[in-house]
Amino acid sequence: MVAQMVQPRAQCLTRLSENARAGTVSPMGLLDGRSAVVTGAGRGIGRDIALCLAAEGAKVVVNDVGVSLGGEGTGEDPAAQVCKEIEAAGGNAVPNHDSVSDFEAAGRIIATAVDNFGGIDIVVNNAGIVRDRTLVKMDEADYDAVIAVHQKGTFNTVRHAAPLMKDAGYGRIVNITSSAGLRGNFGQTNYGAAKAAIMGMTFVWALELGKYGITVNAVAPAGVTRMTENLYKGTEPPADQDPALNAPLIAFLASEGASYVNGQVLGRTGFGYTLFQTPRQIATMWREGGWTPQEVADHFHEVLGQHLQPVGMGDHPLLGKKD
Ligand SMILES: NC(=O)c1ccc[n+]([C@@H]2O[C@H](COP(=O)([O-])OP(=O)(O)OC[C@H]3O[C@@H](n4cnc5c(N)ncnc54)[C@H](O)[C@@H]3O)[C@@H](O)[C@H]2O)c1
Repeated sequence: MVAQMVQPRAQCLTRLSENARAGTVSPMGLLDGRSAVVTGAGRGIGRDIALCLAAEGAKVVVNDVGVSLGGEGTGEDPAAQVCKEIEAAGGNAVPNHDSVSDFEAAGRIIATAVDNFGGIDIVVNNAGIVRDRTLVKMDEADYDAVIAVHQKGTFNTVRHAAPLMKDAGYGRIVNITSSAGLRGNFGQTNYGAAKAAIMGMTFVWALELGKYGITVNAVAPAGVTRMTENLYKGTEPPADQDPALNAPLIAFLASEGASYVNGQVLGRTGFGYTLFQTPRQIATMWREGGWTPQEVADHFHEVLGQHLQPVGMGDHPLLGKKD
């Protein structure tokens, strides 16, 4: 079902093939010669990011531990498969099978880029699992496993890559977040917590690393992968749910030309790329010297109560369909 919707992915592969025929990896790619790590790049959205970065001239470490949707081992090797696709089309890629959730192993992911490509310019933190349950049914193990891959995994790779980027005076970090964490989603306490933490780390790292020529941004992607295929059970997913649609935005953020984009949360909805508002105060109730609880109760509704925010994922109000 997913494989039929291949237009953006096909464009990446065509670009790689044309470059291969021309005898060069990428004559005019956005990422010529850059060294990149994409975690969880063996399947779904990460696979398309790896293909796209390679098509733009990057040398890519395709990291994937090859687990099930819930994080259990499968014996599959999707990272090797994606590397074969990239190489067959004329690109440059090496597989890595370490888990992002293990600090030492995450060091080996970054070292794979350094050892094979001479450095590390780009890290895309994409690896992910889900174990959806409502709060009252969620086990501690389900919470810990999801936090370990998304939140700790993002810390782990960046903690290893950032000192190298700092020494080089250049770096591009793209953290994959989700509206589940930015806005809330039913049944995703663990996932929402991790994805909101990724937003928080993105802001902190943008401040800490920006002065060294390193940008850090977050992207909330979308697309039909095994993570979301249940939403379309029995029906053909629409063309605008192709997971390959996310990759061009991430390739741009990973490029030199995106040096002015730092600490931002972006997203994809339909055929559009979106910019999220950074959480900020939108209303204030003020009383010199402070409030008593009763005074808050007396005035809350007339002041802050007029500005309460919706929670959860609604349609984007500005994204009207063309027809
Ligand atoms: N699909 C969507 O609509 C959607 C929406 C919002 C956010 N996301 C995020 O996009 C990212 C990719 O999701 P997807 O839909 O492509 O899922 P997917 O399951 O198709 O791919 C995720 C990949 O990550 C790998 N992985 C899992 N744990 C790992 C670990 N510890 N170390 C290395 N690799 C590991 C898996 O083996 C898998 O190949 C995730 O971070 C997900 O949370 C997806």
